[in-house]
Amino acid sequence: MHTQVVKIESPAQTREIEETGRLLREGAVVAIPTETVYGLAANALDETAVRKIFEAKGRPQDNPLIVHIADLDAWPPLVQTIPPEAYALAAAYWPGPLTIILPKADCIPDAVSCGLPTVAVRMPSHPIAAALIRAAGVPLAAPSANTSGKPSPTTAEHVLHDLDGRIDRIVDGGQCIVGVESTVVTLAAEKPRLLRPGGITLRQLEDVLGEVDVDRAVLGKAAAGEKAASPGMKYKHYSPAGDVKLVKGSAAQFAAYAAAFPPQETAVVCFDGEQARFDRPVFTIGDRHDGEAHAHAIFDVLRRTETEGYKTVLIHCPGDEGVDLAVLNRLLRAAEFELIELPHTTVIGLTGPTGAGKSTIASLLAEKGFLILDGDRIARDVMQPGSPLLHTLAEAFGEDVLLPDGALDRRLLAQRAFASEENTALLNALTHPEIERRMFETIDAHPEAPAAVLDAAALIESGICKRCDLLAVVLAPPEVRLERILARDGISRKEAETRMRAQHPDSFYTDKADVVLLNDGLHAPQDEILKIIERLPS
Ligand code: TXA
Ligand code: MG
Repeated sequence: MHTQVVKIESPAQTREIEETGRLLREGAVVAIPTETVYGLAANALDETAVRKIFEAKGRPQDNPLIVHIADLDAWPPLVQTIPPEAYALAAAYWPGPLTIILPKADCIPDAVSCGLPTVAVRMPSHPIAAALIRAAGVPLAAPSANTSGKPSPTTAEHVLHDLDGRIDRIVDGGQCIVGVESTVVTLAAEKPRLLRPGGITLRQLEDVLGEVDVDRAVLGKAAAGEKAASPGMKYKHYSPAGDVKLVKGSAAQFAAYAAAFPPQETAVVCFDGEQARFDRPVFTIGDRHDGEAHAHAIFDVLRRTETEGYKTVLIHCPGDEGVDLAVLNRLLRAAEFELIELPHTTVIGLTGPTGAGKSTIASLLAEKGFLILDGDRIARDVMQPGSPLLHTLAEAFGEDVLLPDGALDRRLLAQRAFASEENTALLNALTHPEIERRMFETIDAHPEAPAAVLDAAALIESGICKRCDLLAVVLAPPEVRLERILARDGISRKEAETRMRAQHPDSFYTDKADVVLLNDGLHAPQDEILKIIERLPS
């Protein structure tokens, strides 16, 4: 079979769109661009056409396909009923990278649902995908357009590499924007359940649905013989030819780990800014905090490690927040669920409301040889003249927050940033990642410290606590705190009380804490710190 590649850059190319639509309607298998990854499409209502997809990909027969539609009124005929929460999800995130599973209608051939009583439906946002579905005049079943087990394709070249000679046509619509496959959620069970994380985050699902269960297969390996809620999640997947090792640890540790592998045979995949730690070229997938960038880059990078012939692929493991959950899910599969966790400096978060006496606790821990990172001090450091953060702040809050000598006008910045809740949130969103970065760089630079203590007020609010091995909270009764604030800050009783009222209640802290230290004048701080020390790995 000759595989024809047709470039379609805009839905205005009606001749190519109509022609491809006709091919699809008549039973051809065509790779099409979507915003997530390229899909291998066929008429979802034509059993014979759908079977060709499985053949071309070498896809296991028990792995059902997603049905793609371009308009909302194409949905009801495919399913039994559409509950209100399904419509709410569609209203919020369609067209887009979300697949919704519901009990199927009789018109869905067995080849699509693979014996399951349900069907997965998605409305892609890619304008060419939508135009092709409309031109075909039928819903399109489409898995990712890769050879089964390989990384999903995000360019037409990737598809051609895997499927040349095996399919009728490839529509080249450029590079996919999202880069990982859609989020799959089932509403066919009692409670909504995330089966596969993707471009729409768990948080976004919860915003519409309330609580959402996360299927065990998202981050875990299915036990032998266990029935998978989403059949596609049980296979080794997304793997380039090289042996993938997913490594969790600091940038410094990852670099030290990688140094032991022969450079000619080993690809290194890391975050922006880490390149300088390696004595060889590396593949980068964006800023450490930018899950969307990781998603966009990851499959292309995995494929490049294969075409460049690397035997081993070392990947610096991303986190599990936002779109990173999708990236982590794919990487765990590529690594056959083996996560290499490097030993690291234990990081203790130390937080609590103002006046609770964190600093006393921190200084006692310093005497024990712990590395102390003072959040207030680091917050000031990252705003020193010359720091790149200053320009970001000036862009957000006005050029005049920078004084002629390049220093920050802290008073003006505070005035603007605290003028509204949105402004405060913006200031935090800009400064917290910088503070976090600085804290962890400092920890990396002190491998000799037995443990590091992040002594900071907003550890929970900023999410930095998620990178702590232990979260310790210091509390004291309000009257004790008030006296401490008065003695420490030289402000009026009224001002001190206002300041205290703006703080979270103790439960905000105790809900998240691993240990609670009482610094109330009754418990000896020397004894309280033992609660932390006892919990440290020996
Ligand atoms: O972004 C995407 O979803 C891409 C583009 C092309 O739309 N498609 C895609 O399809 O990723 P595929 O076949 O590679 O992945 C579909 C996933 C599989 O894990 C499959 O097991 C699951 O969805 N799935 C499909 N129908 C299902 C059903 N009825 N119940 C449970 N899981 C289902
Ligand atoms: Mg796939």
